[in-house]
Amino acid sequence: MKKKLIASTSEHFKTIFQHEPEALFLSPGRINIIGEHVDYNDGFVLPAAINKYICFAVSKSNSDECTLVAKDLNESYKFNWKDDLKPIDKMWVNYILGVLQQLKERGLPLEGFTIVFSSTIPMGAGLSSSAALECGFGYALNKLFSFHLTKEDLAKIGQKSEHTFVGVKCGIMDQFASVFGKKNKVIKLDCTTLDYEYHKADFKKYSLLLLDSNVKHTHLTSGYNTRRQEVEEGLAIIKNQFPLVKSFRDCTENQLEKLRDALGEILFKRCHFVVNEIRRVNEAVAALDKNDFEKLGQLMYETHDGLSKEYEVSCEEIDFLVASVRHEKSVLGARMMGGGFGGCSLNLVEKGTEDALITKISEAYLKEFGLTLSAYKIKISKGTTNV
Ligand code: GLA
Repeated sequence: MKKKLIASTSEHFKTIFQHEPEALFLSPGRINIIGEHVDYNDGFVLPAAINKYICFAVSKSNSDECTLVAKDLNESYKFNWKDDLKPIDKMWVNYILGVLQQLKERGLPLEGFTIVFSSTIPMGAGLSSSAALECGFGYALNKLFSFHLTKEDLAKIGQKSEHTFVGVKCGIMDQFASVFGKKNKVIKLDCTTLDYEYHKADFKKYSLLLLDSNVKHTHLTSGYNTRRQEVEEGLAIIKNQFPLVKSFRDCTENQLEKLRDALGEILFKRCHFVVNEIRRVNEAVAALDKNDFEKLGQLMYETHDGLSKEYEVSCEEIDFLVASVRHEKSVLGARMMGGGFGGCSLNLVEKGTEDALITKISEAYLKEFGLTLSAYKIKISKGTTNV
């Protein structure tokens, strides 16, 4: 699938521009084992890059003109990089222009370029096709024009692009995972310091299975930005009462309990989720290191309950997918993954039982919602790279 993607992207470039691309790049989507909605809350996360990619075929244009071609959408966009860059009414273009604006602001020696890209990452499925686009594009220009940006720079540039040109106040997890991914490793990322460590992603008798609800979201209209405001408000109240608390990481359940009234029902629930999710990530890493998959699975279910009932970022369809596997002996854990409001559930499933499970859940899902379920058996792969 990867080879086919590279070949077809390169072929498309040749057809359009009548010459070979100077370079080819792959930028992956990501999963997150646990640690949801805590990257912008000074928490820890446990993501990994997966074997679903956006492929970029790239050349210098030898002028100031730039051409972007989105092969899968059959759309293109031309502009001069020296022009004033502003968001336009095509979302995919904005992810790219946002990155370019960041590069311009850093005063890097830009030139014109031509890019064709094509993807195997389903869009709006919570697998961070947007981060793959931002980071892959940044990585490609970094190599093409020898900017010498670090991986961390590229992740931050991607995140900033999303804030400024897309309007989603996302955390750093997706971009970080896409750039720093390593084969068969999950990344424990400290979102406060950006310190990170790799942990072995060996699930032994189990495998990771994504069930895609095919309920699409965009975080521009989902509750994502609202959640950020709510937790900011909540944290301000906590800090006010407990000055030693600098971030959610320092806050205990006991302290929260004391602030039940001051926070009110909604903010209490949001903060309660965050404090517990930060704890769960640490417990999950310990469980993974000890091959204690029962524990890991149990933590995944707990995370789902928190996301659904306290943070309220799940939806009926995803709740149904998680509830449907809960009593399956072959499934150790499942949860909504990513920003939420649709997308995929991540399931920790006994190897060899995946197909039977997919058939069973697909039928039930179709019957309940009239929707087709998609399923992806994924592998943990390398981050953004040259081909
Ligand atoms: C989206 C954002 C991330 C993160 C997740 C939820 O994917 O882009 O920064 O907040 O949601 O964990």
